[in-house]
Amino acid sequence: MQISVVGTGYVGLVVGACLAETGNTVWCADVDQKKIDGLKQNVIPIYEPGLDSLVERNQKAGRLNFTTDVADSIRRSDVVFIAVGTPPDEDGSADLRHVLAVAETIGKSMKREMVIVTKSTVPVGTAAKVAECVSRSAQHPFHMCSNPEFLKEGAAVDDFMYPDRVVLGVDSDHARSVMAELYAPFVRTGKPIIFMDIASAEMTKYAANAMLATRISFMNEVANLCERVGANVDLVRKGIGSDSRIGPAFLFPGPGYGGSCFPKDVKALVRTARDSGACLRVLEAVETVNDDQKHRLFQKLQQALGSELRGSKVAVWGLAFKPNTDDMREAPALTLIEDLLNAGAEVAAHDPVSMPEAKRRLGDRVTFAETNYDALTGADALAIVTDWNEYRHPDFGRIKSTLRRPVIIDGRNLYATAKMAELGFKYHSIGRSGAA
Ligand SMILES: NC(=O)c1ccc[n+]([C@@H]2O[C@H](COP(=O)([O-])OP(=O)(O)OC[C@H]3O[C@@H](n4cnc5c(N)ncnc54)[C@H](O)[C@@H]3O)[C@@H](O)[C@H]2O)c1
Repeated sequence: MQISVVGTGYVGLVVGACLAETGNTVWCADVDQKKIDGLKQNVIPIYEPGLDSLVERNQKAGRLNFTTDVADSIRRSDVVFIAVGTPPDEDGSADLRHVLAVAETIGKSMKREMVIVTKSTVPVGTAAKVAECVSRSAQHPFHMCSNPEFLKEGAAVDDFMYPDRVVLGVDSDHARSVMAELYAPFVRTGKPIIFMDIASAEMTKYAANAMLATRISFMNEVANLCERVGANVDLVRKGIGSDSRIGPAFLFPGPGYGGSCFPKDVKALVRTARDSGACLRVLEAVETVNDDQKHRLFQKLQQALGSELRGSKVAVWGLAFKPNTDDMREAPALTLIEDLLNAGAEVAAHDPVSMPEAKRRLGDRVTFAETNYDALTGADALAIVTDWNEYRHPDFGRIKSTLRRPVIIDGRNLYATAKMAELGFKYHSIGRSGAA
C-alpha cells in the first residue's frame, strides 16, 4: 500500500518505519525541515532502541521516504495517518490545531479514495471534526478510522511490531478491510484486532492511559502510607500483584509519572468530562497525587540534609522520565532539579542518553557529568530519579568514598535497605519501612 504518515515524532517515525518494514511504501512527512534533512541521512532525532537500523534498512530499500511536502505525500497515498502532536491547551484540553491543519491539507491534496487515520491521541469527536474539515475541499470519497497508538517509548518498535492488541474505530467496510489488511502482519500470533465505532476507539486510548496513571498514583499513596505505618511497599506490591484480578504491572511506586502522554491525557480526559457536564473525581485525584509525588524526593532531601540543604550540592542520576528514552517531557527530574535550585542547592546531573535534551532545557543552571560517578564529586547527597539499568549495581565503595556524606535518596527502590544500612549509607527510598 502507499501510505503517508504526517508528523514524524516518536509515534509517526515508529509507525512509518514499521509499516515500511512489512513492504508498504511509506512517506513520512513533517514540517520540521531540520528533522527531515537529518532523517534522509539516517540521523534519528530521538533515542529509541532498534529504530535506527529499521529506518536505515527501509530507506535504503526505497520503501521509507522523508519529506517536508505534506501535500505531496498525501497525493501519493491510499491511507494517511495523522500522527502530529496534541499538546495540552491552556485549559488542559487537547490542542487540535496541528491535527486540523493536516486535515485541511488532506482535503485539498487527495487524489483518490482514501482512508484517513487519526493516530494522534485525540478526544472523542475529533475524527468527526477531521472529516468535516476534509470534506470542505475533498474531491474524492474518504473513510475515517481512529487507530489509537499504545506503544511505550523505550520499547516502541517491539510494541508496534508485536502489539497486545490493535484498536480500530471505523465508519465503513472499506476502512475496516483496508486497515485489517494493513495490520495483518502484526497480529499473526493471534493477538486481536478490536473493531469498534470511532468514538469508542477515541475513548479507549484515554481510558487506557487514565487506568495506568491511576495505578501509579494509587501505589504512590500506598507507599507514602507504608512509610507512616511501618510497612514495606515492595512486599505489598508483590502481595497484591500476584492476584490475577490485579496483575503485577504498573504497581511500582516512584517519583510520580511523567512523559508526553500520561500527564496530558489525564488532563484532557478530565477536561472532556467537565465539558460534557460530568466530573471524573478519581482521575482528578490521580493528577493531584501525582503533582505532590513529584516533590517527594526533594522533601526527603530536605529531611536528610536539614538546614544544610541550602548551599549543598546534590548529584542526580537519571533525567529522562523513564529508562531507554531521551524524552524529558514532564520528567520528575525536572521538578526535583527546580526544587533544589530554588532552595539554593547546586545540582550535578547524569543520564546515559538525555543530557543533550536536559542541557537544552536547563542550560548552565546545572552541571552535567560525563559519568554517573563524576556527578558525585563534592556532592552531599545522591538522588536517583530514573531506573536506568546501569544504576542498578553500582560500585557502592566508590559512591561512599566520593560523596561528602553517605546520603542516598532512591526514587526507584533499586537497592536493598538492609544492605545499604550495612554499607553505612543513610538510605531513603519510597514506601519502605524505616526509610521515610
Ligand atoms: N510519545 C508517545 O509515547 C505516544 C504514544 C501514543 C500516542 N501518542 C500520541 O501521538 C501523538 C504524537 O506524539 P509524539 O510523541 O510522536 O509527538 P512529537 O511531538 O514527538 O511529534 C509530533 C511531530 O508532528 C510534527 N508536526 C506538527 N504539526 C505538523 C503539521 N501540520 N504537519 C506535519 N507535521 C507536523 C512536529 O514537527 C513533530 O515532529 C500525540 O497525540 C501523542 O499523544 C504518543
